[in-house]
Amino acid sequence: MNPMKRIGIILGSGLDKFSKELKNADLLYEDSVGIHHKRITRGFIGGKEVTIFQGRNHFYETQLLNKIYFNVNSAKELGIDLLIITNAAGGVNPNFKVADLMLITSHLNFILKKISFRKHKKLYDKELIGWVRNVAMKNHIKLHTGVYCSSTGPVYETKSEINLWKKINIDSVGMSTIPEILLAGKLGLKTIAISCITNLLSGNMEEKIDHSEVMEAGKKAYPVFSRLLKAIINDY
Ligand code: HPA
Repeated sequence: MNPMKRIGIILGSGLDKFSKELKNADLLYEDSVGIHHKRITRGFIGGKEVTIFQGRNHFYETQLLNKIYFNVNSAKELGIDLLIITNAAGGVNPNFKVADLMLITSHLNFILKKISFRKHKKLYDKELIGWVRNVAMKNHIKLHTGVYCSSTGPVYETKSEINLWKKINIDSVGMSTIPEILLAGKLGLKTIAISCITNLLSGNMEEKIDHSEVMEAGKKAYPVFSRLLKAIINDY
């Protein structure tokens, strides 16, 4: 038996650079078809085995569930013990700033309801959430907690949608993650999910959000994002 714990990390848009942290990396899979280049790489960070999943298929690209689920199914096959799902998200909570991080503690699923399962282990495990908050605190890393809402995309939200999210106390909005969390729950994978706030959503805003803004904010958030991930890996 291999007593070594295996950590898996799905990287959100703009956060790709974290894959460079892997030592002795092996490329396990690569696929350049689709909007996002997909790669699975396994290596070591601080002596722990870490597998990084770069790129994902979103619901707006394909309704083929095996594609949307590819990273999580692969994580299960690779024997991952702890899966860290990350994403780029719009910040709805007025206290958020660009490049802040938010640990997801619940969600509202606006991606097709057929993506749900009757049976799954409990999602958003309180102990895991408490542990991650504690790791962040010990390392003086600012980490919000909050509710993530999925929009189907690929277009960003209208003012009316943003006003609705605000009214119902949504904290962040993105186009991924929920199908992955639901499948990970069904497969019994221990999972945490973190949003990187790449833009702020306000019901009065006139400017359009564009993808380059999201990528730029990912770069800005990178130092704190990588510090948090390394602290979690180190503490696991
Ligand atoms: N909305 C939806 N998805 C996103 C956003 C947003 O504002 N920012 C990054 N991903």
